[in-house]
Amino acid sequence: MMSDKWMWILRPLVLVGAPAVVLVTLASPLVADGLRLDPVRDPVVKAECGACHLVYPAGLLPARSWRAMTANLSNHFGDNAALDQATTDRIAAYLAANAADAAGRNSKMMRKLSPEVTPARITELPWWTRKHERKDRVAPATLARKGAKFRGDCKACHEDAEQGWFDEE
Ligand code: HEC
Ligand code: HEC
Repeated sequence: MMSDKWMWILRPLVLVGAPAVVLVTLASPLVADGLRLDPVRDPVVKAECGACHLVYPAGLLPARSWRAMTANLSNHFGDNAALDQATTDRIAAYLAANAADAAGRNSKMMRKLSPEVTPARITELPWWTRKHERKDRVAPATLARKGAKFRGDCKACHEDAEQGWFDEE
């Protein structure tokens, strides 16, 4: 049992602590700007699409890109990533439902992207190239220094890419 004396010391601390937590929560979107996407939560997508590279958050590409990609997994950037039909359908549905242009989303990945264009890669999105093709951010020497295997190897430069966290500059 806690003595009354201790309660008198603790009670004001709790009263001061609660508003402080509220303030920090309200202020954090201003401090931690950048991009926050949902990570892939489907275990099948995680396992199958994380075998050769990071598991890309679905919010990085529009649904039409994911559909085109999953419709042609036997020729996936020169690799054979083919899966059985049921698994392919499940992955396609998950990625499309969580895509950059999924219902109610207003994402920066869609900026300046023509509706007629179906980008095969994240690194083809106008938003992405504008952010990276300056200051030699993804120049060959920079990729080598960071240990990135290709430009889309986000994790080499953004540690928490799989969790959907990308810091603002
Ligand atoms: C057998 C290995 C393999 C598997 C399995 C695989 N990929 Fe890939 N993926 C690759 C290769 C190789 C590239 C191209 C890398 C390069 O440009 O050098 C790539 C590139 C990509 C890119 C483009 C990144 C960019 O912007 O450059 C995306 C997106 C992608 N994969 C998604 C997926 C998804 C979704 C799955 C699951 C259905 C998947 N991958 C499964 C090998 C694989
Ligand atoms: C060779 C390093 C490198 C690679 C690979 C790379 N980036 Fe970046 N990225 C940077 C740098 C440097 C910046 C600017 C500083 C910062 O925000 O960390 C940046 C900025 C960003 C930002 C912040 C943009 C904003 O809102 O201001 C996002 C989001 C991002 N990158 C996403 C990606 C994604 C997605 C991939 C993979 C498809 C990727 N990056 C691959 C180096 C890299």
